[in-house]
Amino acid sequence: MKITSDHFGVTPEGQEVQLFSLTNDQGMAVKITNFGGIITAINVPDRNGKLDDVVLGHETLEGYLHRSRYFGALIGRYANRIAHGRFCLRGAAYTLAKNNGENHLHGGLKGFDKVVWSAREIQDSEVASLELTYRSKDGEEGYPGNLETRVTYGLTNGNELRIEYFATTDQNTILNLTNHSYFNLAGGGTVLDHQLAINADNFTPVNKGLIPTGEIRSVKDTPLDFTCRTAIGARINNHDEQLCFAGGYDHNFVLRTETETFRKAATVYEPMTGRVMEVSTTQPGMQFYSGNFLDGSIAGKSGRVYIKHSGCCFETQHFPDSPNQPSFPSTLLKPGEEYRHTTSFKFSVE
Ligand code: GLA
Repeated sequence: MKITSDHFGVTPEGQEVQLFSLTNDQGMAVKITNFGGIITAINVPDRNGKLDDVVLGHETLEGYLHRSRYFGALIGRYANRIAHGRFCLRGAAYTLAKNNGENHLHGGLKGFDKVVWSAREIQDSEVASLELTYRSKDGEEGYPGNLETRVTYGLTNGNELRIEYFATTDQNTILNLTNHSYFNLAGGGTVLDHQLAINADNFTPVNKGLIPTGEIRSVKDTPLDFTCRTAIGARINNHDEQLCFAGGYDHNFVLRTETETFRKAATVYEPMTGRVMEVSTTQPGMQFYSGNFLDGSIAGKSGRVYIKHSGCCFETQHFPDSPNQPSFPSTLLKPGEEYRHTTSFKFSVE
């Protein structure tokens, strides 16, 4: 196991940022920058032992500064959308930026994906970890409370990347952290032939603005039924209102057992390379997003142009717009409580 670091660049505000490489004894390597806590690369073997980079992203800091769709980033304070950028907490009303049409998305204009985190390398014989910390001030992007946030990325010899999220606050606030990596287990092309199983019988349908209606709907007899392994592309163009609203999949799945136990959320299999990725989490939901907004206007690593469905995201999370949806699990964090979640991405071959 080893961790190395290199200079990655300087932000427009003059802050220097690093690129860390975590490598395990199997040759799997993960690169992470403390700018936005972004995972810039994940190199994993295929069934013949050939390594490929299975996430979308950029080679330089400039790429992330100028043209990004949250590639690989930590998302906070609130992953996904809050309707009209408004919510009430214990009688007080809060206003957030509307950075996605009428709505607030992924923490606002300068979310956790665009800030510089403090980094510390932690290495032992079992796990190579990078600990990132960030203090978000009371009122930042409109959210109440000083928030102390800590995220650790740990790579094990079992080819598992474990992400642990911790936070505390000094005022009542809302919180929903995730990671926004776009995976493509073939290392190129689209993800339409990837086969996906999701551990969910229900999802949260959305309106045209991709805000949940509040309903919890069964996936049965819909193209969102991934209870058995199915190719992502098999039904993506079906005439279905939910798929039309999103231009594909961009939905929160209600994971089985809404308790906060660590359990499998999804399995993805890529038939050509044999690569398998298992997603496990303590979170109640997972946004499965099929890269619908990628439109060929961004060129990423090795000059590869990211067209629609070039990658897909498994954003483990609390449900979108929960602060305005009394029937959804609560995202309230109070002083004295510790926010704590774990998500892992485990790679193997079949
Ligand atoms: C999430 C959202 C999508 C989109 C992407 C970023 O997955 O649900 O609608 O905003 O992030 O492009």
